[in-house]
Amino acid sequence: MGLVLAATGSAIGLGNLWKFPFITWDNNGGAFVLVYLLCIAAVGLPIMMAELLIGRSTQKSVVGALKEAVGPAWGLVGGWGVLCGFILLSYYTVIAGWSLFYFAKTVGWSMSGYPAGLATGDLFGEQAGNGGLQLMLSLGFSLATVWVVYFGIQKGIERIARLLLPVLLGILLLLLVSALGMSGSGEALAFIFRPNFAELEPTGVLEALGHSFFTLSLGMGAMITYGSYIPRGHSIAKASAIIVALDTLIALLATIIMFSVIFSVAGMAEQVGGSAVGMLFISLPELFYSEVPFGRILGPLFYVLVALAALTSTMSLLEVVASYIIDEHGVGRHKATLMCGGAIFVFTILAAISFGAVPFVTTLELGGALGDLLFGGKVGWFSMADHFVSNWMLPTGGLAVTLAAGWFMSRDATRSELSDGTEPAWFRYGAWRFFIRFVAPAAVAAIIVAVIFFGVDFS
Ligand code: TRP
Repeated sequence: MGLVLAATGSAIGLGNLWKFPFITWDNNGGAFVLVYLLCIAAVGLPIMMAELLIGRSTQKSVVGALKEAVGPAWGLVGGWGVLCGFILLSYYTVIAGWSLFYFAKTVGWSMSGYPAGLATGDLFGEQAGNGGLQLMLSLGFSLATVWVVYFGIQKGIERIARLLLPVLLGILLLLLVSALGMSGSGEALAFIFRPNFAELEPTGVLEALGHSFFTLSLGMGAMITYGSYIPRGHSIAKASAIIVALDTLIALLATIIMFSVIFSVAGMAEQVGGSAVGMLFISLPELFYSEVPFGRILGPLFYVLVALAALTSTMSLLEVVASYIIDEHGVGRHKATLMCGGAIFVFTILAAISFGAVPFVTTLELGGALGDLLFGGKVGWFSMADHFVSNWMLPTGGLAVTLAAGWFMSRDATRSELSDGTEPAWFRYGAWRFFIRFVAPAAVAAIIVAVIFFGVDFS
């Protein structure tokens, strides 16, 4: 159970609280949410099972697991996953750091009053552009991550997941109760759950698909790594269903909360439009003090929630990289964790100073056709890294995993893991095999085609 919670914690992260509400907003809710649920069930769930089973059957971390389960050349795919974890973690901690800043700010406001006429947009820009502050925040977050992974799976990762997930859910429920009491909650629920397919554009379908990877931590071996710690005698199908269901639930709850607040304030809906950052760090801070019932308590708690959700994700990212070094290079856990954490932080520095602190890093770009193809013409280290991970690394890694589990591993090998007598009554091996062989690869290939030929952006 500890491991299932840890995997759930990996899945629940900034993607749920930050990205999902925003893309739901951007795609006009309703129909998009429905398509997203479909993608989660038809593509996310089968791939989740595939990753967990590859890990469990070999009991090895991502590189070793793919080598053993599929073939020696597949170690390269594993290496791609480790690299992806490395890069993703290097910038994820920067956004996570912002939640620490806003936690400190809101605690201050709750105690000594919200400053009248504060321009929250400027506040955000100032903190993001303050290099020293950004380095401290992301260093703090990185140290917390290293600290958890340092203690290993049971004493570190599982223990923290057991402790934090209930707290996270508790905070979310408090926020939900408060948000549902607000005048905009009816409109928010209608926006989220009343599908209107005329409002959904084809790119929305692809965005839903792309996000289902990111939010479930798929496509880079995080779930292969966690799968390797799942003991036999536990059902992979059941574990996958729990992880996927909880991740989806949390994303929906977060969206209901945020939209209830936004729809309660006249003119807010127009204002929020701009960006995901805007919703979480520019609009909400102020609304906690002007609109949300019990906002003085819930404001700081909300940013604790963001920080906790991020931490349970960053620790799984570091575990992917560290466990590779531990398993494949024979380095001890303590040393490996410190080494990997340190190496990743070097790149975190680049991400932390790419919001204005250092002009060269902020305006970094790769021009021309190649820059467009790989980085979508994005400017600044942070945006380039995020673009590359979301548009290239996760989809290609995901495609490789579906092909590995569906086409390269034998039927017996996957069947003996999934239908091992512990599987729940609803599970059908034949259905899984169909989805992993045909539906999932086609869907993931569509993402890659969209990135290359239609310039669709999943970051
Ligand atoms: N699922 C995380 C989120 O929603 C992000 C993420 C993607 C991730 N891949 C991962 C986290 C791998 C940990 C491991 O925020």
